[in-house]
Amino acid sequence: MRFDHVGIATHDADQLTDLFGTLLDAPVAHREPFDGLDVRFLDLGNGYLELLEPTEDEGPVARSLDRSGPGVHHVAFATADVAAALDVARDHGIDLVDEEPRPGAWGHDVAFLHPESTGGVLVEFVEHE
Ligand code: CO
Repeated sequence: MRFDHVGIATHDADQLTDLFGTLLDAPVAHREPFDGLDVRFLDLGNGYLELLEPTEDEGPVARSLDRSGPGVHHVAFATADVAAALDVARDHGIDLVDEEPRPGAWGHDVAFLHPESTGGVLVEFVEHE
């Protein structure tokens, strides 16, 4: 498995797009409205920053912003087979947010692990070649 992206919860994806574009030379590789979010992936060359700006009041990212404010929301690791990665996690007693892979942003199958099982880090598996 390899690093894929860090998800960042923000109230102002425009501002972060400009900031990281300037600081990190990271252009927008993909943008879409997804699941009540304005989602953008900034290309770092060896991975991405995923900017997550809620466009609706409800949802996990909006709740995270209410609770914790803006910042790192999750870390994603790429695998060729999310279902198999979930099986490994399950075998190790990891609590799963998603029991099965589900469609995520950018057309990728994803699944999340519960942060209480993973050192307080919300881990995402993503099928991203
Ligand atoms: Co993500």
